[in-house]
Amino acid sequence: MTQEVRGVVAPGRNERVRIETVVIPDPGPGEAVVRVQACGVCHTDLHYKQGGISDAFPFLLGHEAAGVVEEVGPGVEEVAPGDFVVLNWRAVCGRCRACRRGRPWYCFDTHNATQKMTLADGTPLSPALGIGAFAEKTLVAAGQCTKVDAAAPPQVAGLLGCGVMAGIGAALNTGNVSRGDSVAVIGCGGVGDAAIAGARLAGAGRIIAVDIDARKLETAVRVGATHTVNSGESDPVEAVRELTGGFGADVVIEAVGRPETYRQAFYARDLAGTVVLVGVPTPEMTLELPLLDVFGRGGALKSSWYGDCLPSRDFPMLIDLYLQGRLDLESFVTETIELDDIEKAFQRMHDGDVLRSVVLL
Ligand code: APR
Ligand code: ZN
Ligand code: ZN
Repeated sequence: MTQEVRGVVAPGRNERVRIETVVIPDPGPGEAVVRVQACGVCHTDLHYKQGGISDAFPFLLGHEAAGVVEEVGPGVEEVAPGDFVVLNWRAVCGRCRACRRGRPWYCFDTHNATQKMTLADGTPLSPALGIGAFAEKTLVAAGQCTKVDAAAPPQVAGLLGCGVMAGIGAALNTGNVSRGDSVAVIGCGGVGDAAIAGARLAGAGRIIAVDIDARKLETAVRVGATHTVNSGESDPVEAVRELTGGFGADVVIEAVGRPETYRQAFYARDLAGTVVLVGVPTPEMTLELPLLDVFGRGGALKSSWYGDCLPSRDFPMLIDLYLQGRLDLESFVTETIELDDIEKAFQRMHDGDVLRSVVLL
């Protein structure tokens, strides 16, 4: 028995999104149907709508979600009906070389649900990042579901599905920020602010927030920055060095994704420090650096993919820290909205007015 629900569909390149009837098949082997409770609005959803990620229209948008498992298909052991879960982009195989080395984010054999959700006329939908959660229900691979403590509000739990996990993980997993470290974060949107929250969680000493938008520096302080630098007004490399005894930060996290900020990150770190690249560049961007600086400054340049997270380890842990009052996730939810408000939320995100708008269902 299929089910029909409402969902937000991007019909074609740069066309306005539409609320459509989405047909959800019964879960097959290894699949689960999840009743979505909350789903955050992310830049990636906008990129899908603009055709910047793929041409496989129509897309069912939405991918930063939490909800309750409603039904599971044959052979599913990971989760059971009634479980409160956070969704992740792809189920991993657990068997390939990357998985066995404890780096499942580079898994060679990831998968999503095998069956397709469709429009009422049978047109198959492409779910954004294999999730498609701007809908009352969605079909995913059971391995995309991670059970977390149901005491957490869905709009908070869903944040871990994408940007906030990417930022916290950039600090904790990729950057290995240690107690007392000086940390600079360049770009204080949702991802950069989450990196700041992660650095604070790790017990960092100075946490320097760098952004060109003064409003962003205010929210950065709210989530844990101890110092701010407006890089539209002063040279951020000089400023970070001044704030770190002339040396540079132990860990610099780049959360913009542009050549000039990659360069700033490279030079704002201490000798033998770590640069974590979490901002995603576009294919045509390049960066030229003197090789003597690359060699002579030592340390590490590391990119961070989905915060190098292990959902089964990190999602429940971060929810526990939130419930204990040790991780402020509420500051990331600027507003809660309805399914019909997605276009407005895209506009506010584009204008830099929000960290996250979250759809409540
Ligand atoms: N220098 C400093 N900050 C900048 C600059 C710059 N040259 N240009 C933009 N910014 C700031 C913006 O003012 C904003 O606060 O970077 C921040 C980017 O935040 P968002 O647009 O909200 O993006 P976010 O969701 O945080 O993602 C940032 O991380 O995972 C990636 O794909 C994601 O590349 C993106 C990046
Ligand atoms: Zn996202
Ligand atoms: Zn694998």
